[in-house]
Amino acid sequence: MLLQDSFKFLLLTLSLLPATLGSRGPIVNTTSGSYIGVHDADNNVDVFKGIRYASPPKRFTPAAPIATKPEGLQSAVGFGADCPQPPLVETGGVALGPPLQATNQSEDCLFLNIWRPASASIENKLPIQVYLHGGGLFEGSGSEWDGTGLVRRSITTHKPIIFITFNYRLGVLGFIGSAQAPNSALNVGLQDQRRALRWIQDNAANFGGDALRVTISGESAGARSVHLHYFFPDSRKTFRAGISSSGTSQAPGTVPCEWHDRPGGGYTILSNITGCGSGAASFRCLQDLPFDTFWPLALSTYQPPVGSRPPWSMVCKGPQGSFIDEYPSKKALDGDFLNLPIITGTNLNEGNLLIGANNFQASRPSSEYSIPPTSITWI
Ligand SMILES: *[C@@H]1O[C@H](CO)[C@@H](O)[C@H](O)[C@H]1NC(C)=O
Ligand SMILES: *[C@@H]1O[C@H](CO)[C@@H](O)[C@H](O)[C@H]1NC(C)=O
Ligand SMILES: *[C@@H]1O[C@H](CO)[C@@H](O)[C@H](O)[C@H]1NC(C)=O
Repeated sequence: MLLQDSFKFLLLTLSLLPATLGSRGPIVNTTSGSYIGVHDADNNVDVFKGIRYASPPKRFTPAAPIATKPEGLQSAVGFGADCPQPPLVETGGVALGPPLQATNQSEDCLFLNIWRPASASIENKLPIQVYLHGGGLFEGSGSEWDGTGLVRRSITTHKPIIFITFNYRLGVLGFIGSAQAPNSALNVGLQDQRRALRWIQDNAANFGGDALRVTISGESAGARSVHLHYFFPDSRKTFRAGISSSGTSQAPGTVPCEWHDRPGGGYTILSNITGCGSGAASFRCLQDLPFDTFWPLALSTYQPPVGSRPPWSMVCKGPQGSFIDEYPSKKALDGDFLNLPIITGTNLNEGNLLIGANNFQASRPSSEYSIPPTSITWI
């Protein structure tokens, strides 16, 4: 009897031990299910990679939250797939930050990653920095950024934070534009960002964060996105401040969605080369093509002569319900944007990256610059 009781006591004690002390990783319960991550003892950081913030999205359709939580523990040990994107060389793109390693690509790519001080819990209510990756809205991924150093430093400076990155749909899959596209199909890449920010609101407390103290930050296309969330706010408050580095909602400029329907426009070419035709049925046809058929053809629209810039990297001004229903420049003029703190600026000498004017690039033959001069505005 006595033995049995102490055995029970031991079991109870063991089950109450923080997960990080055992051989298993830290566990976090979320609206997408329970995830087990990795405890990085050297840096005093818990890492959760590849958490789903939405259901696998249907092409050109806004992503929905996870409807039914999966049973059991999900692994949050490795990054989820990156959103489909062209190899760097094909677009003449520029790697901003660490080299892109987007070797594992899938349309099922709506994942986020969390770095937090080890064992942060519901009582801690730590501020959260969300980082929106750059890449011209046609490349990049949340897996490019490692929050370990930042979070470790935040601990040593006694201002601990949680750092989050995520993937959002890119290029044609995130930013298709056409008069044939329903309003909801426009700017789904930005809608994904909004979805991720809502997920963070719903789950912040469970991973030790404070939903009321979320700062959105980003560089390049991520910086543009930060501005766009100020101009086109969610009906729900999802952040309290922003940091925008080297990008604005005004550049490269917003065009009407029909711009893609002009002769030589992205949609015109894409619907033609896929055999989807030009009429009202073309959109549904593009949506239903198997990915393996669709993607190589879609990629070919990223190259000149279709446009000297990838045709799908920019947002388009569409009707109500399309995320961008007005020109951001008009909104700026009208003072119609979120009145929240923001740090905004440009990285010193970043333009050199694009024009090849700095020393190391100037010493390379110009044939190595795959960026045509006319395209330098799109990053
Ligand atoms: C997660 O949920 C499970 C089942 O509801 C519960 O037993 C566990 O204590 C929770 N874990 C955390 C870290 O909240
Ligand atoms: C690729 O991504 C899928 C889906 O997120 C994931 O399950 C798989 O482990 C990844 N594979 C590699 C090699 O990283
Ligand atoms: C594609 O364009 C060519 C040349 O204009 C035209 O002949 C052909 O019918 C088009 N194909 C489709 C499916 O629209």
